[in-house]
Amino acid sequence: MNPRALLTERFEAALEACGSDAPALVQSASKPEFGHYQTNGIMAAAKRMGTNPRDLAAKVVGQLAIADIAEGVEIAGPGFINITLSDAFLAEHLDVDAPLVQPNADVQRVVVDYSSPNLAKEMHVGHLRSTIIGDAIARVLEALGHTVVRQNHVGDWGTQFGMLLAYLRESGAESSLLSDLEEFYRAAKQRFDNDPEFAQRSRSMVVALQGGDADARTQWQHFIDISLAHCQAVYDRLGTTLTLADVRAESAYNDELPSIKDALAARGLLTESDGAQCVFLDEFKRKDGTPLPVIVQKSDGGYLYSTTDLAAIRYRADQLDIDRVLYFTDARQALHFRQIFAVAAKARFKPQSMSLEHMPFGNMLDKNGKPFKTRAGSVVKLTELLDEAEQRALALVEQKNPEIDTAEASRIAKAVGIGAVKYADLSKHRTSDYVFDWDLMLAFEGNTSPYLQYAFARIQSIFRRGEIDAERLTGKAMPVADVERDLAVVLLRFQEVLEQVAAEGLPHLLCGYLYELATKFTRFYEQCPILTAEGEAKQNRLRFSRRTARTLKQGLNLLGIETLDRM
Ligand code: ARG
Repeated sequence: MNPRALLTERFEAALEACGSDAPALVQSASKPEFGHYQTNGIMAAAKRMGTNPRDLAAKVVGQLAIADIAEGVEIAGPGFINITLSDAFLAEHLDVDAPLVQPNADVQRVVVDYSSPNLAKEMHVGHLRSTIIGDAIARVLEALGHTVVRQNHVGDWGTQFGMLLAYLRESGAESSLLSDLEEFYRAAKQRFDNDPEFAQRSRSMVVALQGGDADARTQWQHFIDISLAHCQAVYDRLGTTLTLADVRAESAYNDELPSIKDALAARGLLTESDGAQCVFLDEFKRKDGTPLPVIVQKSDGGYLYSTTDLAAIRYRADQLDIDRVLYFTDARQALHFRQIFAVAAKARFKPQSMSLEHMPFGNMLDKNGKPFKTRAGSVVKLTELLDEAEQRALALVEQKNPEIDTAEASRIAKAVGIGAVKYADLSKHRTSDYVFDWDLMLAFEGNTSPYLQYAFARIQSIFRRGEIDAERLTGKAMPVADVERDLAVVLLRFQEVLEQVAAEGLPHLLCGYLYELATKFTRFYEQCPILTAEGEAKQNRLRFSRRTARTLKQGLNLLGIETLDRM
């Protein structure tokens, strides 16, 4: 149930009856005195019609059929219309055990292209953001009924693989050597930089690999398998939904690359420039006004990241029949995506109806506002970061609860520590840089994961103390007190928030929502004692509690965060 969508429909029908096709612009009320929702579209509609906005508002209200939804409709200021939902409407949609989310009317097939590390190196904090945000969006899309195809577009085909393979061969192809990919990369790079003969071997290794040499291919596969196993270990620890089956690597498009070039040439889009095959589009120029190419093939015959991305678009359109593709990478790739989206459209690699959306994100910074690095200045490895999260959470859990047994403590610490890292990332606006701060993210107050996990556990403890089987509660939560009405309105916004998260790729909206819900619940709990109440009042408050707990649990789950019955 999405009251905002329902009100929008009704208001737009009323506007139409008044001769306007303007959008109603219904929103949650910005202040309690404006009711629950407000309609902001009347002024613009009146302007277009050349009439007085307050008069139009009165006419629209006259045409409006919302007696089944609202108990109060009020014209305010220059032509706003404020709506107060009726208790009967709220209760009608607050059945304790009805599904909280309904599938959208028109569902899509969506590729979520996320995580996508380069396998030459270990995953670092930049991939943390892509992995966490992309996974949350994939889950939300699925909850809304869309078909999601997860694609982990790992980089496994660049020139650096020649160097890694040459080093792997030289050092005896021991998998134990690869337990630390960063170290392995560094060692290989050092050989490459200091030994021309090694560098030469590396280059011929790339040629052999890309030319299909069986030995090179086997060794490369060995390297990729180990490297992907590292990634999967991180995904599992993070509790993300990615599996090895979601890997659709750059190399998977290798055989398609020549035909991408041919297709571009056939459409007259290809130009040779300094021996390279390029696409020049008018809309892309350098600062000095000179044209900026998308290079499709280098002068030595090699294809590039862009070529592979064009092939991926064509594959997703032709083979997967996809309506929408979301790419989660940091903001530095914005130009790359604008360019390949434009080329893909010009070359008709995608139908017009297919939507390609880059979902950029900002950097993770340390407390001093500097890019997040280790003390030694290298990138922070994800495994180490997650170890630290769990250790810090464990210390907190043991400090709050000295009696707790070790196994229980480490289980809680894992959920709290990993949850905190994920939530800290998800709760900031995706496009802004964010400061990674252990103390803030692990705080039990404020908009944090521990606070929300605790809010959920507290409701569970109410049921335990009252010896109530929450699963067996039935009926609808009916608002009686004002705090219940406030809580009811927030509970009913869940669907709307998820739809917005899915449309814009902004998980922080869901975080903010869950935080508001937990806050509203606390106020309700303070003013409406539950276990000491009696009869129908008690049942009704239990229903509100159950509905809130379910919403918190599902909401956190969609963010990829575990809930605990006890903390
Ligand atoms: N491998 C790239 C990187 O680590 C990200 C790939 C994103 N996806 C894509 N289809 N280009 O920066």
